[in-house]
Amino acid sequence: MPPHDRPYDDVLATIGWTPLIRLNRVAQGIRTPVYAKAEFFNPGGSVKDRIGVAMIAAAEREGRLKPGGVIVEATSGNTGVGLAIAAAVKGYRCIFTMPDKMSQEKARLLRALGAEVIITPTAVPPDHPDNYIMKGRAIAAAQPNAIFADQHYNAVNPDAHYRTTGPEIWTQTEGRVTHFVCSPGTGGTVSGAGRYLKEQNPAVRIIAGDPVGSIYAEYGRTHQKAEGAPYKVEGIGGDKIPTSLHFDVVDEWITVSDRDAVLMARRLAREEGLFSGGSTGVNVVAALETARRVNDPDALVVTVLCDTGERYLSKVYSDEWLHENQLVEVQHITVADLLAHKDGAAPPLVHVAPAATVRQALNLMSTYEVSQLPVLDGDNGVGAVSDQDLMARALEDASALDRPVSELMGPPYPIVDDDTPAERLALLLSRETPAALVRHDGRVTAIVTRYDLLHQLAGIR
Ligand SMILES: Cc1ncc(COP(=O)(O)O)c(C=O)c1O
Repeated sequence: MPPHDRPYDDVLATIGWTPLIRLNRVAQGIRTPVYAKAEFFNPGGSVKDRIGVAMIAAAEREGRLKPGGVIVEATSGNTGVGLAIAAAVKGYRCIFTMPDKMSQEKARLLRALGAEVIITPTAVPPDHPDNYIMKGRAIAAAQPNAIFADQHYNAVNPDAHYRTTGPEIWTQTEGRVTHFVCSPGTGGTVSGAGRYLKEQNPAVRIIAGDPVGSIYAEYGRTHQKAEGAPYKVEGIGGDKIPTSLHFDVVDEWITVSDRDAVLMARRLAREEGLFSGGSTGVNVVAALETARRVNDPDALVVTVLCDTGERYLSKVYSDEWLHENQLVEVQHITVADLLAHKDGAAPPLVHVAPAATVRQALNLMSTYEVSQLPVLDGDNGVGAVSDQDLMARALEDASALDRPVSELMGPPYPIVDDDTPAERLALLLSRETPAALVRHDGRVTAIVTRYDLLHQLAGIR
């Protein structure tokens, strides 16, 4: 148990015994208590630290891995981190293959830990030589003194969870756990921990979440292998059945969309202070659905917070990414609604006249902290200027500061009526057209920017 009251021999000794934390605000109104095992407390920031060290220890015991050896793995990132940490402590080299849909943060992290990372295409069939598992296996076969860790087909993976994650949950809940909800990637966590919990109490129900597009849930229900489809959450689901996933342990499957998963991950960060990724979103959506259905204050649902949200800053936690991937619905709101939600620090329409100088325009932008200004001649939009363009011109030639903006401005912004639906505005705005002027009762009265729209869609205000 982790009071951390004495020093450890190395970082590997700190893996496991992660805290079990109650979900409060996201579970409001649900009578069944829901707890989550916070795996981002592991030193590598994910549940996979548990299997990294276990797979290396097993290969050493079996004599397959010798000093100076190479560890190769196909990984969505986190297993790589677990292996790389153990390899750093034990002095092995690592080579990882990783599909290109995984976040850049993960590849950078693996390289920071000293590993070599080979990015493979996501959009290839599971048996294609460029598939990340096939490629990893081929690399290991071609290297002397190399092992392929093979988390998808390595019995040590579920066994590590049978020996650690399962017993920890049993102890931490004092044997009161009634439902364990966990989404499989390799299947190691749900299979190992689930089997252990069922052995302690056969009435414990094991529920697996699965992203829309993965073939696991369908296979679990019908034993038919369907065609997979792409999805955005990382680390869970699949288009091929791994042997680390023990279907006999799973009692029920709950399918969750990317959108629900991502929005739940964001809620967990804001409402619970629990910062995790999309696979955790799937887990928690499925756990709350289970808890709602069970509707019993004496039951106890446990799920898993798989890894740290820092791995997804450019994805799950990026408003642009959500928008580009259509994970936020354009609601039926109008331009007037967008304006009503602006925070009111600046007047609704900051603008310059064509005769104003570049210096005056830059002053205005700095005062109101805006990066672009419409140029208005009376009520007519005649042009637009951006801080970036004006600064570049002024740095090139200081006399530009005293020239009228009419000489340097770009084309005017489009004009929209304030009852225009936000969907139409979204089609109009782009990086090249960052804003539109808003007309109310025939007069231009406000400006609406790409960021106003983005912030509204992502629910920031
Ligand atoms: C982010 C993330 N969540 C969940 C999982 C699933 O865990 P398991 O492979 O034990 O099923 C993984 C596995 O790669 C993962 O990377």
